[in-house]
Amino acid sequence: MRRPVVKEEIVDFLRHKQEPSTGFLAEIEAFAHQENIPIIQHEVVVYFRVLLQALQPKEILEIGTAIGFSTLLMADILPHAKIKTIDRNPEMISLAQENFAKYDYRKQITLLEGDAADILGQIDQQFDFVFMDSAKSKYIVFLPEILKRLKKGGIIIFDDVFQGGDIAKPIEEVRRGQRTIYRGLHRLFEATLNHPDLSSSLVPLSDGLLIVRKNQEYVDLVD
Ligand SMILES: C[S@@+](CC[C@H](N)C(=O)[O-])C[C@H]1O[C@@H](n2cnc3c(N)ncnc32)[C@H](O)[C@@H]1O
Repeated sequence: MRRPVVKEEIVDFLRHKQEPSTGFLAEIEAFAHQENIPIIQHEVVVYFRVLLQALQPKEILEIGTAIGFSTLLMADILPHAKIKTIDRNPEMISLAQENFAKYDYRKQITLLEGDAADILGQIDQQFDFVFMDSAKSKYIVFLPEILKRLKKGGIIIFDDVFQGGDIAKPIEEVRRGQRTIYRGLHRLFEATLNHPDLSSSLVPLSDGLLIVRKNQEYVDLVD
């Protein structure tokens, strides 16, 4: 269970008042909860439905497949989209493959196996939507490669950027084992939140989403 950063009763309201998942998505969501596999929380599921219906991206990249829940959700929302999704964990890959074989009815999904650090460089394609849901400390490392492959007007969503609320504390108050992630996330905010060629917004859903829009063809990141 991820740590919610907004009041518990509001989180509960968001999770139970909004439209539940149905069919195979409900089954995979329940399986993930039962097996303690981290997938996007239900408030993010509902948010994705509205956002993706509005944006209608055609080419999607996801980093962090796990068992393929968010991948299949995006495929369900966008029947005409193509999705590339990357994961490096063999156990997750095998469960994702099973789920894709059963539920990727329109053959929209390509699963790329390996570390995103190696795979990203091999992708010669432009995307209009990127969902980042992998190791948080690496978001900033992947950002330049992602921006190169994002169309002008394209959107990136980074999941879990609040570190259970630690992100708002001074670093001395953060446990030593969590400080690499803390530093990585702060570098991500420094690179994106006030960049003149990006529009960025932090959204307090689940453990925090960062949404970034690329407003120019070429975006230079100042480090
Ligand atoms: C939070 S889970 C993804 C959940 C999924 N997006 C969902 O909501 O259904 C994170 C996944 O990212 C993968 N991952 C973490 N770092 C990675 C990396 N550098 N390259 C590829 N996969 C990575 C892990 O193996 C794990 O399966």
